[in-house]
Amino acid sequence: VLSKTERASMTRLWTRKLEQDSDRLPRTARHRNLHPDSAELIHALAVGLHAQAILEIGGSSGISTIALASAARATGGRLTSIEIEPTRQAESRETISSLGLSDHVRFILGDAADALPGLDAMSFVFIDCEKEDYVRFFDMVTFAPGAVVVADNILSHDLSDYVAHVRSLVGGESLTLPVGKGLEITRIP
Ligand SMILES: C[S@@+](CC[C@H](N)C(=O)[O-])C[C@H]1O[C@@H](n2cnc3c(N)ncnc32)[C@H](O)[C@@H]1O
Repeated sequence: VLSKTERASMTRLWTRKLEQDSDRLPRTARHRNLHPDSAELIHALAVGLHAQAILEIGGSSGISTIALASAARATGGRLTSIEIEPTRQAESRETISSLGLSDHVRFILGDAADALPGLDAMSFVFIDCEKEDYVRFFDMVTFAPGAVVVADNILSHDLSDYVAHVRSLVGGESLTLPVGKGLEITRIP
């Protein structure tokens, strides 16, 4: 279960995001964060699956990073968090450190396209980057047998190419949950 301080940090980041949205800041200045309901769900899923090798693509300032780092602490596993934008990741590192979760996270600063080929097999993967990259990055991940992949923004954006892609996996299972901005949850065969 997420701790009080972890939840408080997620709420702080989410409140700032809502304020930035209402101030109509330019898109590049705004933090795009995961809905806290979705963060709760990915935390519970990763813990329930006892996931050891956890990966997120697009950590940003870190709502999902808190959720998955806390899950990694509960399972004795580790989160690998990839983010291309240095100031966003610096903020996330600070938050994770202040929550005492640094031992459970390996931060990678850079393009996921460069980082993914070097990673070991993953048992829980969270995809939350540019929408046109979902299929490409999904195909670059090495999955452990029975791995679970969650992708955000399924109902807020047109990600029909991604949904069709994951639903075409022979022997896999995939469904959309109407939580937050819509989550596609896929079990790899
Ligand atoms: C929607 S935000 C992620 C929100 C985050 N998961 C959270 O819970 O707060 C998307 C992030 O993906 C990052 N990103 C986009 N393309 C990327 C790439 N090729 N490699 C790594 N990160 C990328 C962006 O810089 C941005 O911070």
